Amino acid sequence: MLARLIHPLPDLLISQIAAGEVVERPASVLKELLENSLDAGASRIDVHLDEGGVRLIRIADNGGGIGRDDLPAALARHATSKIASLEDLERVATLGFRGEALASIAAVARVHLTSRTATADHAWKIRADTQAIEPAALSQGTVVDVADLYFNTPARRKFLKSAQTEFAHCDEALRRVALARPELTVSLAHNGAVRRRLPAGDLQRRTRDLFGEDFLDYARDIDVRAGDLRLHGYAALPAYSRAGRDEQYCFVNGRFVRDKLLSHACREAYADVLHGSRQPAYVLFLELDPAGVDVNVHPAKTEVRFRESRGVHQFVFHALSRCIAAPLAAASTPTLSYDAARHDEAPGTRGQPRQHSLGMAEPAAAAYLDFAWQAASSPAESGPPQQQAPLGYALAQLHGIYILAQGASGLILVDMHAAHERILYEKLKTTLDTAPPPIQPLLIPALFSASETELACVVEHADTLAALGFEIAPAGPRQLAVRAVPSVLSSSDIVALVRALLADLKDFPASTVIETRRNELLATMACHGAVRARRQLTLPEMNALLRDMEATERADQCNHGRPTWTQLTLADLDRLFLRGR
Ligand SMILES: Nc1ncnc2c1ncn2[C@@H]1O[C@H](COP(=O)(O)OP(=O)(O)O)[C@@H](O)[C@H]1O
Ligand SMILES: [Mg+2]
Repeated sequence: MLARLIHPLPDLLISQIAAGEVVERPASVLKELLENSLDAGASRIDVHLDEGGVRLIRIADNGGGIGRDDLPAALARHATSKIASLEDLERVATLGFRGEALASIAAVARVHLTSRTATADHAWKIRADTQAIEPAALSQGTVVDVADLYFNTPARRKFLKSAQTEFAHCDEALRRVALARPELTVSLAHNGAVRRRLPAGDLQRRTRDLFGEDFLDYARDIDVRAGDLRLHGYAALPAYSRAGRDEQYCFVNGRFVRDKLLSHACREAYADVLHGSRQPAYVLFLELDPAGVDVNVHPAKTEVRFRESRGVHQFVFHALSRCIAAPLAAASTPTLSYDAARHDEAPGTRGQPRQHSLGMAEPAAAAYLDFAWQAASSPAESGPPQQQAPLGYALAQLHGIYILAQGASGLILVDMHAAHERILYEKLKTTLDTAPPPIQPLLIPALFSASETELACVVEHADTLAALGFEIAPAGPRQLAVRAVPSVLSSSDIVALVRALLADLKDFPASTVIETRRNELLATMACHGAVRARRQLTLPEMNALLRDMEATERADQCNHGRPTWTQLTLADLDRLFLRGR
């Protein structure tokens, strides 16, 4: 008779196997312990690490604590105080629920648990290996000691990186928790030296403490609700982009997640305003009914599954793109607000915006402009404005590159080309949605000598070019004639524009180009259509551009994510001149 080959695994081995998923490195231990402290209602957490957490992770909280008789259960596998039924699991509100973290950690490290509840006379301490319990000294709360990680599983220890790297991962785990719970007081020490001390506060304070003032300067507040979905937090404008994804944080019901669907929605929201190699920065909190999201996808619980994944994607995408696209006028900051009563006074007093340039702007001023933005000049420009324009009124042009304008609170500087390019791009997108786009026939066709490839390209992409608003035809064996262009581009250097467009088109199959590359083509068109540096503008032309910027979505940054304007307030200027000191 053969001996039985199939036998149950010993408990410790089961936990060691489970630990492979939960306890990947010191940072994953710390994450589990931090979550336990939060679930216990702690308002203060202090973390001490030695050697990147490999030698020691000690975490002390002031939460509800564990009673003496519950101590062995806390360390047992599949034992939890957080859920009791399948219904509980389906709408779990705590961070933990699987009841396996402490057991898994205890299977691969030396764990001590010291805890005291509000009603106990003193604390109790349990050693995980012997299960021995003895009295201990501690005010209310819990201290968990995790020493010598992987001391009994050398194979795993080999995968650990340097103490510095492991510490960096632990620090990241702590940042995530700190962001999700700004009302928490947290500290982190490494090898005896304090590395972070985060006081309790609001999200703004916490964000500043973790990302710096710079991030907040460029961040827009977001708080949008639709049904039982809510998205709130901060999204940085594209001008504050990063080389890496290090400042992208998404939380779902307070839990940090790394979710493909959410990051895709965010990426899409920025796609139009951010150069491909740059990464946006954001701290976003998605709240929804816990029944609408499954967090039990992986033991580490950083992946989630949404029941209405399409709806969530749409919601996040729209909320975020609207937030970063909001035109200047809508997003005007307090410094741009203006006391309209000042307009009642005589011109020239109390430094209100210059208006003589506006006086020059006749009702039909726009008609004199040979610039594409003419269409958007508002009728308000023909008389004194009732309200201060957020971007102020043009004073002059600097080196043919920047427009200087006087705004309610100081000097506004606009990068003329970048701003115009953005406006054209947005206009092209809108006009293309109305088929056919308005086109401008050229009185005298623009002729130019073309290469074989350019000639072939015009024939092959005839439909695309027509759809974009161009009428181009061969005018000789090696010549092309441009007979009409989209009206928003009628004042550009047409030959250069068409050449750039053909260069874009030549590598792509005619059938798909308009769907897949449309926005790229429009960007090329906008770039060539936009007013060139050194072009002298009149004051009415400059004002028309400013008004157009205010009315255009996403006008705060050019197509490459650089800012299109900036402001020097009177306070900034005073500082430059050391006034008022
Ligand atoms: N810091 C703590 N304060 C109070 N209770 C805790 C703490 N850490 C763990 N516990 C208790 O131990 C149990 C087991 O913890 P754990 O193994 O992480 O599983 P889970 O968090 O999934 O319940 C928890 O359900 C909780 O009752
Ligand atoms: Mg837990």
